[in-house]
Amino acid sequence: MSKLRIAFVLGTRPEIIKLSPIIRECRNQAIPHIIIHTGQHYSESLDSVFFDQLELPAPDYNLKAGSQSHGKQTAEMITGIEKILRKESPEHVLVQGDTNSVLAGVIAASKLEMTLGHVEAGLRSFDRNMPEEVNRVLADHASDYLFPPTDQSARLLEAEGITGDHVVVTGNTIVDAVYQNVDLAEQKSTVLEQYDLEPDEFYLLTAHRAENVDDRDRFSGILQGVNELAAQTNLDAIYPIHPRAQQNIEEFGLDIPDRIQLIEPLDFLDFLYLENNSRLIFTDSGGVQEEASILQTPCVTLRDNTERPETIDVGANQLVGTDPSGIVNGATVMMTRSQDWSNPFGDGTAATTILDVIL
Ligand code: UD1
Ligand code: UDP
Repeated sequence: MSKLRIAFVLGTRPEIIKLSPIIRECRNQAIPHIIIHTGQHYSESLDSVFFDQLELPAPDYNLKAGSQSHGKQTAEMITGIEKILRKESPEHVLVQGDTNSVLAGVIAASKLEMTLGHVEAGLRSFDRNMPEEVNRVLADHASDYLFPPTDQSARLLEAEGITGDHVVVTGNTIVDAVYQNVDLAEQKSTVLEQYDLEPDEFYLLTAHRAENVDDRDRFSGILQGVNELAAQTNLDAIYPIHPRAQQNIEEFGLDIPDRIQLIEPLDFLDFLYLENNSRLIFTDSGGVQEEASILQTPCVTLRDNTERPETIDVGANQLVGTDPSGIVNGATVMMTRSQDWSNPFGDGTAATTILDVIL
């Protein structure tokens, strides 16, 4: 059997989506690889639906770490990943992004005889209260190869002393994933009919970040602000809701305002189709900010900071926080802007560049 070249460690929805172009390219080029799934996400709508739709092979291993406290979850993943990496002995390990699954992959792989590559390196919100920021910093400082998506993220790495031939700007693999799927979404998705929506006549909302949905006031501010803008413009907002947010709505006893329709999380093609056809996107997601800028849909980000400042610099996005008046004002500004920016995340060839570098 030929030598195992790459082990992918992944565990959540955005990692499956953003690693999919690299995994697909491995299959095209017959590069021996395995997928180690930590099991951080396990509900069908956050996990297997993406393997099916993106035509990825089933994971070779699933550690079933599930939902636990940060420490317990990460520890269980590290132990499981280490055991598999020792057994399989791949030349390279690739992780993507900033989740606890990434941190676990980083800690396990960086102490073994294999090289570790961090896809989407160099992003910084400069907010250490976010678990994702801690994970990003640790991943970048422990990796052998770093793949910042933009020059700006490479400069942030340089400011932390991470510089050299092992740092390669690649663009973001989300551009590859969007380009590979947007036409398919156009052909296949019936999501507008399903929810009785007209192109450009609705808003799309996603909010799932711990700092927002675990805080009653911030979560309630988001719902009020989006509802107010929707009522003023006589349109509705559709909110495919992450289970973390759904649980907190119940726990906090929050009422869902009239103009917001909650639905189950969507698969990638339906979600892309909604992003592409919505008047404006409200989000606290990292990946959704990027996709909005790629699809030329205006975006307002329901946070006080972003590790995707490129989207703001090109005019595709505005930071509005979670105060209702800020949300209404920001959205009003974004809807009057011309939508002629250039996507700042590359030309959709990140996956091949990353493979060329490590192999
Ligand atoms: C994680 C990431 C976050 C990322 C998000 C992508 C960390 C610290 N956070 O947040 O950066 O933006 O994934 O979606 O790694 N749950 C389910 N089904 C699942 C998974 C989770 O119902 O398949 C529920 C559980 O009640 C769980 C909660 O969602 O307690 C949160 O899950 P967790 O994996 O801890 O974090 P996310 O909020 O998903
Ligand atoms: N996404 C999806 N269905 C949904 C919501 C999001 O397919 O109902 C996709 C979206 O297109 C993006 C990714 O999930 O590629 C973003 O994941 P998420 O917002 O959970 O995480 P983040 O990017 O904030 O880490």
